[in-house]
Amino acid sequence: MKLENNVTIITGGGQGIGEAYARRFAAEGARVAVADLNREKGEAVAASIRGTGADAIFVPVDVSDETSANAMADAVVAKWGRIDTLIANAAIYYDIDNANHSFEYLKKIFAVNYFGSWLSCRAVYPHMKKQQKGSIITQSSDAAYTTFYVPHEDQLPSFHYSVTKAAINAMTHFIAATGGPHGVRCNAISPGPTMTEATKKSVPKEMIDVIVSMMMAIKQPLEAEDMCGAAVFLASDESRMVTGQILCVDGGMIMRG
Ligand SMILES: NC(=O)c1ccc[n+]([C@@H]2O[C@H](COP(=O)([O-])OP(=O)(O)OC[C@H]3O[C@@H](n4cnc5c(N)ncnc54)[C@H](O)[C@@H]3O)[C@@H](O)[C@H]2O)c1
Repeated sequence: MKLENNVTIITGGGQGIGEAYARRFAAEGARVAVADLNREKGEAVAASIRGTGADAIFVPVDVSDETSANAMADAVVAKWGRIDTLIANAAIYYDIDNANHSFEYLKKIFAVNYFGSWLSCRAVYPHMKKQQKGSIITQSSDAAYTTFYVPHEDQLPSFHYSVTKAAINAMTHFIAATGGPHGVRCNAISPGPTMTEATKKSVPKEMIDVIVSMMMAIKQPLEAEDMCGAAVFLASDESRMVTGQILCVDGGMIMRG
């Protein structure tokens, strides 16, 4: 086991990639807080993990609400005494309306996808700083880079979504720089299109086929479980000197560096 007793909060752990993180971290020995707006799904994931003999709780949270985000961190510290890892994964993705280009909607997407991530990071940061150790993993997206496949404004990925993920990349650099002297690392995972229910609902299959065949070096669709190895690495001491990085887990879609 690579994460024995690692106290991990996973926002948006109730379904999709967050659920896959929760299950994998628990299998690696972590104590997992499944934090989600969706109580029914979050509780079900936590209960199912407990059914395997691992340690898991559900924590209700609206990451876009400052009080709620702080209460999430406090609840985990009250339960397990520390926070070793945060995966700030929650986002409006399943329900996203790509055709809505109003300013109101831009603000709504920012409130959850960017500020929600920022509030989650800020909620755990004082605890990690006190411990002089912690790993924050933000959840970006290759959508932050893929301006070239948005030829029309109602196509995917939406401007709103993509810009929040670009902001998360910048935030990741700043948190890494700020937290480094205090033992707090911050890295992002940037998935390519991953076959969760949200992707199946919102991205046409023909588009996935084109991405896989034309834009990915490894010509296979990504699954939620494909993200987990990177997350385990970034949470563990194996990555002790890795911070401020955006790790694309995308079959070679975006190649930088
Ligand atoms: N699936 C993909 O193709 C893909 C690709 C790149 C990046 N991502 C990112 O990975 C993450 C997970 O993707 P997914 O496909 O599993 O998405 P999803 O929509 O299936 O899951 C998102 C989860 O976040 C929760 N959530 C939404 N708003 C919340 C809030 N205000 N407070 C707390 N929880 C909230 C939802 O209840 C849900 O459980 C997201 O950040 C997404 O942007 C996904």
